[in-house]
Order: sequence, then C-alpha cells, then structure tokens
Amino acid sequence: MLTDNAELTPIEDDRRHIEIKPSVLYIGTPVALITSLNADGTTNISPMSSVWTLFDRAVLGLTASSKGRENIMRERQLVLNFPAPDLWPKIETLAPTTGRNPVPPHKQKIGYRFEADKFDVSDLTPQPAELVRPLRIAECPIQFEAEMVAAHTPGGDWPAERPEAFWIIEVKVLRVHAHRNIVVPDTNHIDTAQWSPLLYVFRHYFGLGPDLGRTFKAER
Ligand SMILES: Cc1cc2nc3c(=O)[nH]c(=O)nc-3n(C[C@H](O)[C@H](O)[C@H](O)COP(=O)(O)O)c2cc1C
Repeated sequence: MLTDNAELTPIEDDRRHIEIKPSVLYIGTPVALITSLNADGTTNISPMSSVWTLFDRAVLGLTASSKGRENIMRERQLVLNFPAPDLWPKIETLAPTTGRNPVPPHKQKIGYRFEADKFDVSDLTPQPAELVRPLRIAECPIQFEAEMVAAHTPGGDWPAERPEAFWIIEVKVLRVHAHRNIVVPDTNHIDTAQWSPLLYVFRHYFGLGPDLGRTFKAER
C-alpha cells in the first residue's frame, strides 16, 4: 500500500504502474496464417501471430511441436497469409487443430485435435503460389511467398518445466500479393484506409482503430 511521501521523486511516486505476472506477453501483433507443405504434398495451415518484418525478412516464433514448423524446416518454403479482421471466425475454427498426427500429449490435454485438411475445416480457399509449393489462401488480402534462410532455438535458459521448445525462423520474402482493392491504383503502396490487419492482443482478436497520423517517412 502506497502512502503519501514528500520524500519520493515523481518517478518513485508513480502510482500508475503495478507489477503483474501475465501468463502471456501478447501485446498485439498481426495474425498470419502460415501455409506449408506436408510430406504428402498437401498444404497445412498454421495460425500464428509471433511475427515481425524488417526489409525483406520476416522473423517467426513457432513452437517445436507444430506441424507448420516441421514442414517449413524440411521444405524451406512457406506462404505468410495475412487475414483481415472479418476472417477471425474462420481462424478460430482452426485454433484447436493441428496437422500433426498423433496430437502431441500437451495439446491433447487442452483439447486440440488432428485435422488433415485445414482448408476444408476453415472453409478457406486454396490458390496456387507462383514461386513456392505451398498453396496461398485466396481470402487473405496480403500474402508473402517466402523461403526459410535461418532457424535457431531461443537463447538463455529455457525453463525445464515448459512442455516444449520453440524455434525462431527467419524467412526471406520473395513475392508479395495484395488484393487489388487495398492497393493505391498504379502504385506499390498499400492503401491504409482500406487495409486492416487482424490483431492478436492478449488472446483476443481486434481490427484497427482510426488512423492516428503518419510517421515522417510515410510515402503516402
Ligand atoms: C491467433 C493465434 C495465434 C497463434 N500464434 C502462434 C504463434 O505465434 N506461434 C506458435 O507457435 N503458435 C501459435 N498459435 C498456435 C498454433 O496455431 C497451434 O500450435 C497449431 O496447432 C499449429 O498448427 P500445426 O501444428 O498444424 O502447425 C496461435 C494460434 C492462434 C489461434
């Protein structure tokens, strides 16, 4: 309990912050549906959100036991499909599924099931890619065809009580596809008035709020 204390500096006296121990640190990142090639040539879909981009690279965080991680590291090819907010119910139909058979025990325990055909489960539409073998998802307004260039395990100590490890996978974006209606005509610019990512914020789905302004480097 804090009491008024004239000796405290304004920073020490800042009562806006309290210490918490959240179970996840998902501040808010875009949802991506990764498509990857199964060993039998079919395409798996893995919903994920631990993704960031810089220049032509994207960096992904994927649990070691996920089928998508296994497929990407074997085939070194993938598509990052970025859904708009209206697709969230379809994504949620994929959430309790895995392309891994049998389902890993820690996932069985919380109700995951095996699904061989994720397009069928989610009612999403397959579309051929141009440079890689996994199929794209037609409904996703932005798609990155990509190849894996590096993968490594996390640094530091990973707690022994965690059921599984994860991989940090760096991919090079080879081609970008965008729905015509979110592109400024005759340019390579995404029209930010037309595009909203689907955001994953502390295990809830959100779209974007209003445009607050632009940075000095913005080209439009
Ligand atoms: C919205 C959303 C975001 C997710 N983000 C991640 C993530 O960033 N990394 C990850 O490994 N799993 C993430 N998951 C969990 C995977 O989707 C889950 O492990 C799934 O079984 C993967 O499918 P797969 O085994 O067929 O690859 C997320 C799930 C949802 C629904």
